[in-house]
Amino acid sequence: MRTLILSSSLSVESKSYLLCRKTYKILTEKVDCKLFDARSISLRAFHNETTEGMKKLKQEIKNSDNIIIGMGVHCYSINDSLKIILDNCFEEAEGKFFGILCAAGGEKSYLATQHLSQICMNEWRMIQLPRIVYATTKDFKKDKINSIETENRIKLFAEEFYRIGGKLLN
Ligand SMILES: Cc1cc2nc3c(=O)[nH]c(=O)nc-3n(C[C@H](O)[C@H](O)[C@H](O)COP(=O)(O)O)c2cc1C
Repeated sequence: MRTLILSSSLSVESKSYLLCRKTYKILTEKVDCKLFDARSISLRAFHNETTEGMKKLKQEIKNSDNIIIGMGVHCYSINDSLKIILDNCFEEAEGKFFGILCAAGGEKSYLATQHLSQICMNEWRMIQLPRIVYATTKDFKKDKINSIETENRIKLFAEEFYRIGGKLLN
């Protein structure tokens, strides 16, 4: 099983990246797992020329069996970099299984992940793992996850993603 973990935040202090990194550490023991950090490429909005990095990401999405998307909440929704990625790089994600790891400032924005679910399900008929990791500022300390509950939720998320993702391939 080839799993792509896509960390979509461009923040230098990205907390959703920390969720992606932790999930990667667990899944890489079991599957062919890649962690793609959107900060490593140049993103250009639709109606501009696609960059080499965006082409590389498109290829990684094509090569993957399933995808885990790390997102940060902006204005109760997905942020700008993720929207650019979805608009430009996701055409080969058709029908793929996916999961969401989300970092937010506070607890009231949990429905923001639904916007990502809607796009993935309506646009590419993707199938979502019915479990989300949603963490807030209080779950982190500097550049580390600082919450046993969040760590346990990531473990559960990774186990379920592995189990269900594997079944969908058979
Ligand atoms: C422009 C902007 C808008 C934000 N809007 C929200 C919001 O609506 N709800 C919320 O809980 N946090 C909000 N936040 C806080 C971010 O979700 C938080 O910083 C999170 O860590 C972002 O993910 P990242 O660190 O991976 O980029 C916002 C932050 C920024 C910069």
